[in-house]
Amino acid sequence: MIRRKTHFRFLLVTYAFASANFLYAAGPSLSKRCQALNEWMATNSEVSSDPDIIAPASVPLFEHYPYLIRHIPYLDIAKLPTPVKPLNSLGRELGHRNLYIKNDSTTGHLFGGNKIRKLCFLLGQAVYHKADYILTVGGAGSNHSTATIVLSSWSNVNIPCISFLSPQLPTAYTCRNLIISQQYGGELHPCTSSADRAQALLHKAAELQSRSKKVVYIPSGGSNALGSLGYVNAALELKKQIGAGEMPKPDYIFVAAGSNGTAAGLSLGLALAGLDTQVIPVITVPMTSEEFTADARQLIEEMCKLLQLSSIPENIIYPRYTTEYFGGEYARIPNITADALSLMHRTEGFKLDGTYAGKALNAFIDYAQAAAHKDKVLLFWNTFYTDKPRTSFGASDISKLPEEFHHYFTDPLQPGDLGL
Ligand SMILES: Cc1ncc(COP(=O)(O)O)c(C=O)c1O
Repeated sequence: MIRRKTHFRFLLVTYAFASANFLYAAGPSLSKRCQALNEWMATNSEVSSDPDIIAPASVPLFEHYPYLIRHIPYLDIAKLPTPVKPLNSLGRELGHRNLYIKNDSTTGHLFGGNKIRKLCFLLGQAVYHKADYILTVGGAGSNHSTATIVLSSWSNVNIPCISFLSPQLPTAYTCRNLIISQQYGGELHPCTSSADRAQALLHKAAELQSRSKKVVYIPSGGSNALGSLGYVNAALELKKQIGAGEMPKPDYIFVAAGSNGTAAGLSLGLALAGLDTQVIPVITVPMTSEEFTADARQLIEEMCKLLQLSSIPENIIYPRYTTEYFGGEYARIPNITADALSLMHRTEGFKLDGTYAGKALNAFIDYAQAAAHKDKVLLFWNTFYTDKPRTSFGASDISKLPEEFHHYFTDPLQPGDLGL
């Protein structure tokens, strides 16, 4: 037990540092605030109790590394494995015979998308620490914030979640996510910028701590080393599906990159699975490929430590990032993305978002059309939760949200937004 406690102290410190990189705006004042946030994390993460968490033995990561069951808390809150399917109709349109989708829309019982895989680990940790509060951040329409609020309200977890949200361009899913967050009891704080939200979070944390409350901070996008293990696990899950004949080994996987845990986790997981597949992450935030690559290297190193590996696997193929489809501003839907979204919808019936999945789809379509890739196996990894809210909502629900969010319900949607 002592070893385990020591391990988790270490783990919290590493995740505090991993979280620094992805508060989306850069600049000296912000990095100072990030540092303040990290210092706060490093000094406020004592382990207070023994874990009471069961890791299901059928989770691919624990099948692969059974010793981890005793070291890494995991909450069984996801619906896994997610389906793999051929995209025949899209393939006919693009003249390619080997196109597939791995659909992570269906990861959740109450909310889906890529964040659920990370939260199995992150909320496992919060429960393990007997947190009184979970604090997190995101854009106003953040899928991560919404997923965290929904799942932390679950009876297995039952920890209030406070989220600090900065402005973004309007999208259809922003309205859905705000309503769901409100319905599941999230405490939402509108902030004027990502710097402001870091500041507001620190204030709140200090206030809670002055009342002796234990706080767990989950970074933007859930992309610290612990959360990113969700995508190491996902790659091992894919390996099993390939083994079962559901699809051939992909040569390329296309995925959206925001806070980077999905791409970095997949890249490490594929190496551990012995698959020589290249991950092509499409950057969706105002940062360079070089910044993403450096961050992936650091995340992968930290994940290897959590997995108790002596070194990074020699066969690792680092993600090959592209900024080509970014569109100049977070959540903007460029025309090329709008075209990709409507092609996918017309041929396969999937209604995806233009912030993340639509941009990964752009790269996937471009590869599928290129002569050099006609004999390759291409996998599009959908990270977007496509469902509408389960209950209808009206003006009275909107009025319960902080006023700063009301305009998202009346702002015109961008022309390429397909809605839900
Ligand atoms: C729908 C969706 N896809 C992809 C991403 C990017 O994943 P990651 O933050 O792990 O890079 C996010 C979040 O940022 C997301 O909400």
